Amino acid sequence: MIKLDDICFAYDSTPVLKHFSTEIADGEFVVIKGDNGCGKSTLLNIINALEFAEIGTYTFDGTVIDKKAVKNEQFAKAFHQKIGYVFQNTDAQLFCSSVYDEIAFAPRQMQLDETEIAKRVDDMLKLTGTEHLKERAPFHLSMGEKKKVAVASVLAMNPQVLILDEPMNFLDKKSRQWLVEFLNQMHSVGKTIIIVSHTDDFDKMADRIIEL
Ligand SMILES: Nc1ncnc2c1ncn2[C@@H]1O[C@H](COP(=O)(O)OP(=O)(O)O)[C@@H](O)[C@H]1O
Ligand SMILES: [Mg+2]
Repeated sequence: MIKLDDICFAYDSTPVLKHFSTEIADGEFVVIKGDNGCGKSTLLNIINALEFAEIGTYTFDGTVIDKKAVKNEQFAKAFHQKIGYVFQNTDAQLFCSSVYDEIAFAPRQMQLDETEIAKRVDDMLKLTGTEHLKERAPFHLSMGEKKKVAVASVLAMNPQVLILDEPMNFLDKKSRQWLVEFLNQMHSVGKTIIIVSHTDDFDKMADRIIEL
């Protein structure tokens, strides 16, 4: 369960989030909407503990997430493993020289053995229909292919929460349809899904739409 209580956040002295509160239950599918610059990505960064609220409290599964909490490396590692974050800018997310290594990155961080890692990578390649891209360099893939690889690489940690920031940007119709179906499937297996999107593709399947 994600609980944001009275969150205030500013960059320098420009306020972005003002007394924002919400609760997102396990397994819930939430779409976040709002004008450009209203703070959607900032909110996702706070949920991912990349930014921290100045006022207010963020609680994840009953634990307060603040700077102090994530200073504990062991806690931070366990926390980041629970939340898969697909950035708006996919290029900023993909940095390995092959799709295989990209998907294997998080499982390697988790110090799984290479046999287990190979199995996990294969599972993710199958799940996202990217088997044929296994040896390719992520940098040279199409936008749709990159998005699939980014999704595969965060899912390789088996996170309980999946967060996507404007995932439909630059995707063609076929890739958008794939993503809608894929997230529906992830929702049906019980993952919590939080999407920022200004398109209406996810409205039908969302449990809730939050207007920022
Ligand atoms: N790192 C940053 N430093 C200063 N201002 C920022 C930074 N990131 C975002 N902003 C500003 O904060 C506001 C909210 O940004 P953001 O959360 O990215 O909005 P959204 O995702 O809803 O478009 C915008 O005005 C943006 O220019
Ligand atoms: Mg944004």
